Amino acid sequence: MLDDILDYTKHIRERPVWQPIPRSVRDSFRQPLPQEPAKLTSLHNTFMRDILPYSVGNVHPGFMGWAHGGGTPVGMLAEMLAGGLNANMGGRNQIPIEVEQQVVRWVRELFRFPDTATGLFVTGTSMANLIAVLVARMAAIGTSVRRQGIGATRKRLIAYTSASAHSCIAQAMDLAGLGSDVLRIIRVDEQYQMDIQALEEAIAKDKSAGLTPFFIAATAGTVDVGAIDNLSAIAGIAQREKVWFHVDGAYGALAMLAPDIAPRLAGIERADSIAFDFHKWGQVPYDAGFVLVRDGKLHHSTFAEPAAYLRRETRGMAAGSPWPCDYGPDLSRGFRALKTWFTIKAYGAEKLGAMISKTCTLAQYLKHCIEQEPALELLAPVALNIVCFRYRGDHADAVNRNIAADLQESGIAAPSTTTVNGCLAIRAAIVNHRTNGSDIDALIQAAVAFGSTYIDCRSKLGQS
Ligand SMILES: Cc1ncc(COP(=O)(O)O)c(C=O)c1O
Repeated sequence: MLDDILDYTKHIRERPVWQPIPRSVRDSFRQPLPQEPAKLTSLHNTFMRDILPYSVGNVHPGFMGWAHGGGTPVGMLAEMLAGGLNANMGGRNQIPIEVEQQVVRWVRELFRFPDTATGLFVTGTSMANLIAVLVARMAAIGTSVRRQGIGATRKRLIAYTSASAHSCIAQAMDLAGLGSDVLRIIRVDEQYQMDIQALEEAIAKDKSAGLTPFFIAATAGTVDVGAIDNLSAIAGIAQREKVWFHVDGAYGALAMLAPDIAPRLAGIERADSIAFDFHKWGQVPYDAGFVLVRDGKLHHSTFAEPAAYLRRETRGMAAGSPWPCDYGPDLSRGFRALKTWFTIKAYGAEKLGAMISKTCTLAQYLKHCIEQEPALELLAPVALNIVCFRYRGDHADAVNRNIAADLQESGIAAPSTTTVNGCLAIRAAIVNHRTNGSDIDALIQAAVAFGSTYIDCRSKLGQS
């Protein structure tokens, strides 16, 4: 198994990025609960034949969809060790918790947070954003919210984020019991950054209406185009208005590792909380989300819950309080920290930063290729590693939707799509450390070739 999966990553370029899944393969996973044991060799064969070829392909250098990391063999091997150790990371007196705390200390150092800040591995940034909202909600209402819920407060809490923010920010409001209507969507400027004046106006309007602004979610690396909000300006507003300043840095926050990009995240060090993923630009295998909270005491009091069966002691296995389960909703947790610790130790911060810079350089190269190609058109500024473009011409939305699907089905390159300024865009997010210039060339050539095949049938596409 180990040989096969190492060969898979070694020879990944010989495979299509993605391929359509045959009906028979899909059907083979719709069987009744097995009663008899199966041989491991046969399960391994099934994996090689029916599972491995049909994943989404984000290990492949031609994968440029959404914001998926590429993983590394180092992370994979660490995951195997973690699986064998089977540590439950809810807490208790064990060195795996120290490993997680070591990563927490590195994260604090990276973002220049104080020693009193706390951090926690979670599934992903969606969960990390939710945790930040829950801590901020506690800060605004007080501990009573944990017993009485938000119905007992007279305060009407209001949150702010930009029109480019990820939908999980609104979902976090919903899950926190506040309802997504409390989230004010602030317009963006031509750089797709939150409009600072519009933010200030919205806060002033809400305050004069007797509402309580409590949370601003800025984004470091927006999902559509990779814009970084003006974090310093937003930090200043949050400080002045006494509002929680959160940064959703799902993939972008780790640009702090890249000396040439880090200055553009100035102000992130003033955040009350930061959410990000090691599984995106950090290349740690899924999943490895992370939340960092400046006020560790507040973070603790948002989640810690005494229970006789989780009693803490000063010696024995129940020592070492506080435990990770005191900082989030999960009690049982996997050892996500190990693959992250291995990745950071094995490659070092400098090399990881250089890899992040390289993906941004490739994005600039892609932008340049698009500008040189008369059939293509750039749809948004390229701030980081995301490039949005389209094939020019009539019925462009239908044509470009088809080009994206053609690219994916061809196995040559796998971008995703989004909408930019009302236009359907082919969106290439260069997150994978394996991607190089030849992958960009292949994407451009194939996009132009597929686009040209629609010239005759445009009117048909326009009608569909
Ligand atoms: C800006 C932003 N926020 C949040 C998320 C959600 O992160 P996750 O998929 O790890 O939950 C993403 C995912 O791409 C993102 O780009």
